[in-house]
Amino acid sequence: MSPYRAVPAPEVLHEAVFEPLLADSLDQVLHVEQRTYAHPWNRANFIDALHSGYQAQMVTANGQLLGYFVAMKGVDEVHLLNITVAPEYQGQGWARIMLDALAVWARGQGAQWLWLEVRVHNARAIKVYEAHGYRRVGMRKAYYPADRGQREDAIVMSLALEH
Ligand SMILES: CC(C)(COP(=O)(O)OP(=O)(O)OC[C@H]1O[C@@H](n2cnc3c(N)ncnc32)[C@H](O)[C@@H]1OP(=O)(O)O)[C@@H](O)C(=O)NCCC(=O)NCCS
Repeated sequence: MSPYRAVPAPEVLHEAVFEPLLADSLDQVLHVEQRTYAHPWNRANFIDALHSGYQAQMVTANGQLLGYFVAMKGVDEVHLLNITVAPEYQGQGWARIMLDALAVWARGQGAQWLWLEVRVHNARAIKVYEAHGYRRVGMRKAYYPADRGQREDAIVMSLALEH
């Protein structure tokens, strides 16, 4: 008998990769979007973003969509318009990885700042952004649609990009 105890095989790690979010991925993206938000983007929102040449990337592993982001380049800033992690993959750090990728891309574009809006009640996203170095710089009143025809304020956050 071998003196060594059997060591369980390590779990096979998902090989996560970034890939461009293209029109032919929209069914999968919309499936996640609709399961994630009470007020999701619709197909036209994504198509408009793609036609406008916005930066749109998704993270996949073994054919599964883990998350995606869409960002718009301005003059000296990049504006994050959508960042979403599929519900079953939340809490695993994917947002941080996407925010890192966004910052790398934005720096490469010569941007000085990253900007975003977030719902005042989205404590989880606010915590993720603050942990990533984003600071609260303003408010937009009644920026988002909310339940029962109401509107929800947005917090504006920004991150200075070091060059
Ligand atoms: C916000 C979002 C992008 C974060 O992505 P994620 O990969 O799940 O992020 P993580 O789970 O790794 O980090 C979440 C952090 O929030 C914390 N958190 C979880 N639920 C929370 C809550 N209800 N309130 C406050 N913090 C919360 C976690 O503890 C974790 O902090 P830690 O890293 O210190 O442990 C993701 O949850 C998501 O897609 N949410 C729905 C869509 C959305 O709100 N997008 C942002 C729009 S501006």
